[in-house]
Amino acid sequence: MKINKSGATFSSIVGIGAKIKKMMDETGEEYLFLNRGINAVCPIDLSKVIPLIDFNSTNIQVYPPNKGTVGLRDAINNDYFDGNSSVENISITSGGMTAIDLPIQILDLDTVYFSKYYWGSYAKICQVRGVNWATFHNLTDFINDVKVIRNSVDGADKKIAVLLCDPNNPVGNKLDDAFMLEAIKELNALNVIVFFDSPYRKIFNDHTDTIYVALLKLENVIITESFSKSMGLSGQRIGFIHSTNKDFNEELNIRLLYGFNGVNAFAQELITVLLTTEEGKKAVSDFKKNTVEGLQKNIQYLKEHNLLVEKLYQNSTPVGIFTVINISEEELLRHKIGSVGMVYFTNEKTEEVTQWSRICVSVPHQKFKSFFDKMLMH
Ligand SMILES: Cc1ncc(COP(=O)(O)O)c(C=O)c1O
Repeated sequence: MKINKSGATFSSIVGIGAKIKKMMDETGEEYLFLNRGINAVCPIDLSKVIPLIDFNSTNIQVYPPNKGTVGLRDAINNDYFDGNSSVENISITSGGMTAIDLPIQILDLDTVYFSKYYWGSYAKICQVRGVNWATFHNLTDFINDVKVIRNSVDGADKKIAVLLCDPNNPVGNKLDDAFMLEAIKELNALNVIVFFDSPYRKIFNDHTDTIYVALLKLENVIITESFSKSMGLSGQRIGFIHSTNKDFNEELNIRLLYGFNGVNAFAQELITVLLTTEEGKKAVSDFKKNTVEGLQKNIQYLKEHNLLVEKLYQNSTPVGIFTVINISEEELLRHKIGSVGMVYFTNEKTEEVTQWSRICVSVPHQKFKSFFDKMLMH
């Protein structure tokens, strides 16, 4: 059997999780799983929402429309774009990972760029799809570099894309919105495809967030989204892609059909009910409120104990759901705290970076505090 090997390696984060789980089973002791990428301050309470779903309906029992149900796409148009986009621009995907992978397959690209501290899957997706990737120091430097490329003899037509994640995974920092929007506008004008991949943003915002409407006017922007983080529903595997480009959407429709043949109808119905009914909206808003409260308390604790890597937060604000702290993965594990070493999120293999780790701060505060208090006592 001859295999077309991509050369990409399996996720180290999944491996670290399995190792900690094994240690927990072997010792019978409790561990704090801050290595994961999910909101765990509280689950979303679906008890008032489930009765609203008719499991006998054909909406759930038969193939869903290829791009997703009109009801869900319409709900997304209202919730994200204040009704200013169109269901034609929105395609439902099975999660955010697929929402990034499909455009990377479809677009003709020379290089995809992302920030120097990046979610490892960005690089792996590019590698699997045979697309070059590179990193940049910060957005201002990147825009200047693109201007130089665009003014060079062979750079004018270079097919460049950038993946932007804000709040960022792994740093958990948030850029100033006005600054970020201006940067995206400049990149759009420089003919750079901008993937706005910010699934953590909605945790902190509701339908009044105006950024998505502003992005609508920019033809080179593709929004890749997920309900895994803002609704805590990573198990449902559901997200979406938004683009105003007709040719792109036509090819996407074809790839969705032959790659997936539709996205799970139950998950689509569930998200529709969460976005459109009073019970659903309340469940989402309660989930976000509790989550943000927990994030803030945990980040405050880290600040008070000088555990944040301050230099990563100089021109931005730490908001979560991740933060980078100045204690190594090994040291944290000695105190039964799971984390992921920052070496997995950057190509910079400096001594300093080996002493940092990414932790997920989306866990109940009392539990977080008790593990860190114990560690700091030693
Ligand atoms: C920056 C970023 N984009 C996209 C995703 C993908 O989300 P999903 O779980 O829906 O595949 C993640 C998940 O961790 C992420 O961190």
